[in-house]
Amino acid sequence: MNSQYELIYEGKAKKIFAHQDPDKVFIEFKDEATAFNALKKAKFEGKGELNCLISSKIFEYLIKNNIPNHYLGLKNDNTMIAQKIRIIPLEVVLRNTAYGSLCKETTFKPGKILEKPLIDFYLKNDSLNDPLLTRDRINLLKIIDDDDFEFIYNLTLKINNLLKAFFKSINLNLVDFKLEYGYNSKGEIVLGDEISPDNCRLWDLNLKNDTIVSLDKDRFRNDLGGLIDAYSEINKRIDNFIKCN
Ligand code: TMP
Repeated sequence: MNSQYELIYEGKAKKIFAHQDPDKVFIEFKDEATAFNALKKAKFEGKGELNCLISSKIFEYLIKNNIPNHYLGLKNDNTMIAQKIRIIPLEVVLRNTAYGSLCKETTFKPGKILEKPLIDFYLKNDSLNDPLLTRDRINLLKIIDDDDFEFIYNLTLKINNLLKAFFKSINLNLVDFKLEYGYNSKGEIVLGDEISPDNCRLWDLNLKNDTIVSLDKDRFRNDLGGLIDAYSEINKRIDNFIKCN
């Protein structure tokens, strides 16, 4: 984005710029990748563009399926136009299969399919390392009231059903993902942030045996290499799916 736009906020993977309409913002996706609360950092040329394009297509699919979200359109390949929202400081993680922190913190083995989706809430606070919350702690901290909690919980389950079906149709297993929500200028709760291989675990189903092939940020987290190839593959499969539907 050129300097005519005011930078409102810079996060680890995105920059938010003011839009001429006060109810909108520009979200620029960066090429930087971080993991383990930014203890690990690297730059991948083209990642920002891939995540922006992947997210935009997934947000459009969710809009078609009546999921309220902040996406309004693309300004260019690495910048989207979105509703300006006041982010709720929760990282909402839904897990279909045990992996990552769930296996570090419980006796569940990696790859165990969960009987029903598990939703974990984390406090969005880098200086506290995004700690896992309980329902009582969410109440105690007055982050959201009970009605908004129920709304977010049920919307996350609906989004999971839609995303699971979407990714299955392009031969990807949606293991888990992280969502963020916010309030728009009308006070409505909408899905924000991004939906991309940065915040979803996606395993390739195009394999004969049951080895895990991650096509997501685990390629960086776990030093597997080939991050851009994996993200490009996802983008390509989504484009083929859109062409055929
Ligand atoms: P976890 O297993 O490390 O808790 O991650 C669960 C999911 O949430 C996984 O898809 C990666 C995503 N995630 C983020 O998008 N941001 C984060 O800061 C973390 C910790 C996880």
